[in-house]
Amino acid sequence: MADRDWILLNPGPANTSPTVRGALVMPDLCHREPEFFQMMRGCRERLVRLVAGGGAWRAVLFTGSGTAAVEAAIASLVPPARGLLVVNNGVYGDRMLRIARAHGITTEALAYDHVTPVKPDDVEAALRAQPAISHVALVHHETTTGLLNPVAEVARVAARQGRRVIVDAMSSLFGEPLDVTQEPIDAVMASANKCLQGVPGIAFVLARRAALEALEGRPPRSVYLDLYNHWATQERDNTPFTPAVQVLHAMEQALVELEGETVVARIARYAENARVLRDGMARLGFEILVPPGARSAILTTFRLLPGLAYDPLHDAMKRRGFIIYAGQGDIRTYAFRVSNMGTLTPKDMDAVVAAFTACLEDLR
Ligand SMILES: Cc1ncc(COP(=O)(O)O)c(C=O)c1O
Repeated sequence: MADRDWILLNPGPANTSPTVRGALVMPDLCHREPEFFQMMRGCRERLVRLVAGGGAWRAVLFTGSGTAAVEAAIASLVPPARGLLVVNNGVYGDRMLRIARAHGITTEALAYDHVTPVKPDDVEAALRAQPAISHVALVHHETTTGLLNPVAEVARVAARQGRRVIVDAMSSLFGEPLDVTQEPIDAVMASANKCLQGVPGIAFVLARRAALEALEGRPPRSVYLDLYNHWATQERDNTPFTPAVQVLHAMEQALVELEGETVVARIARYAENARVLRDGMARLGFEILVPPGARSAILTTFRLLPGLAYDPLHDAMKRRGFIIYAGQGDIRTYAFRVSNMGTLTPKDMDAVVAAFTACLEDLR
C-alpha cells in the first residue's frame, strides 16, 4: 500500500476527494431501514437532476462494476424477437455486442477501427435495411483510445427511423457534454467511479420512465440484471439484493460535491486538464492517436516515442507517483493512455508533464 496518494492517470477508478473517501467509514447500516432508503432515493434523485432529466427520467442503481449497468440495459430493453444494432469501434462497443449475443439477442454490428467515430449515415442505412432492429447501442466515449462518438447525430437518425438508443457513457457522463434526454435515447449507463468521482462498486442506468414502464410483465433475460425489477423495487424504497451500502454513501458525497462544482465547471476543468497535458506532451514530441475532431477531453492515447517501450515508462512514472495506463490489445505495443478525470487540476497536469520530462531524461 502506498504511503501517499497516487496520481491516477488511468480512466477510473479516478482520484477522489478526502471527503468522498471518508464517507466510506460510516456507522453500520441495514439496507432495509429507512435511513438507507433515504440515501438511495437521494442519490437517484440527484442523478436525475444532474442530467436535467425531470419527471420523465429515473435512475436505477446496481451494485456491481459499470458492466453490470450496461448488461442490465441491453438484456432488459431489447424486446424478444427484435434486434440490436451495435456500434463497434473499441473494446466497449465490442463488449456490448458480446453481452447482447450472450443473452441470445439478434445483433448487427457496425464496425470501424479504433480511431474512427461512427458515421450516422451508416446507422441510418443499417436501420433502413433491418426493420427488426429496435435499438441502437453505442459508446459515447470509447475509453479504448479516447474517441468520441457523435451520440446526438446517431440519435437523430435513429429517431427518423423510429428506433430507440442505448448509450454507454461510462467514462464521459459529467465529463463531456451529453444531452441524455434527447429523443430517442432510452437509457444511459455510467458508474460511480469515473467522472462522478466516487469509488467503484455502484453502476447506474439513467432511463426514460416510459421505457421502464414498458418492461412490466416482460420475462427477464437475467435475474440479477433485471432492470425492471431493480427499478420497481427501488421506486418502492426497497432493494432486490444486498447493495454496497458504504459505496453508496461515498457516492452520495460525490454527488453533493458534483452539485457544488457543477457539471459545466467539471467539464471545463477536465477540458483544461487535457489542454495542459496535450500541450506539454506535444513539446516532448508525443503524438495523439485519435484525429483532432474525434478526441474526448477526458483521455488521451499517445504514441510511444521511437525506442521507448511502455513498461519502463510506466515504471518510471510510477516511481514518481503517477499511474499511466497501457493501450488495450495490440495498441499497447505502440501507444499508452493518460486520463485526466477525477479530482485532478491543471496544476496536477503540469506535474504530470514534468514527470514525463524527467522520465524521458532517465530512460534515454
Ligand atoms: C466506456 C466503458 N464502458 C464500460 C466499461 C466497463 O466498466 P467496468 O470495468 O466498471 O465494468 C468501461 C470501463 O472502463 C468503459 O470505459
